[in-house]
Amino acid sequence: GAPVQVDISAVAPGQMITAEWQGKPVWILRRTPEMLATLSKLTDDLVDPMSQRPGFTPEWAQNEHRSINPEWMVMVGICTHLGCSPSSRFAAGTSQGMGSDWLGGYLCPCHGSVFDFAGRVFKNMPAPDNLPVPPYYFIDDTNIMIG
Ligand code: FES
Repeated sequence: GAPVQVDISAVAPGQMITAEWQGKPVWILRRTPEMLATLSKLTDDLVDPMSQRPGFTPEWAQNEHRSINPEWMVMVGICTHLGCSPSSRFAAGTSQGMGSDWLGGYLCPCHGSVFDFAGRVFKNMPAPDNLPVPPYYFIDDTNIMIG
């Protein structure tokens, strides 16, 4: 499929937009400092905290924030269990399966898999892997090319 250019100039901190690439939803989340701060707290709770499993994360995104620029998360919004689209929950709170101390991220409505603000899946969830990071790069400060 053709690469898709996305203008991110109007995305506010804490906001997410969805692009379409190869028929898949690609989420572009502008993470706040608070969202980023949650990532380093979760290492022991995650299946693959540095995203080293093959097939889901390009080498250049095998880091804690799973991205090129920590502020911008770009990932395919399709659950690695059976392909539902998780919903976002951008505030801390209670969730099924996570108790009362979930820091926020994504929750799959189909079988309850929970992911953090980098799309990393928590342990003991139906989803086996982190949400995929697609190939992408920054054309300039306000445009991303996906694909
Ligand atoms: Fe997401 Fe099953 S499809 S948890």
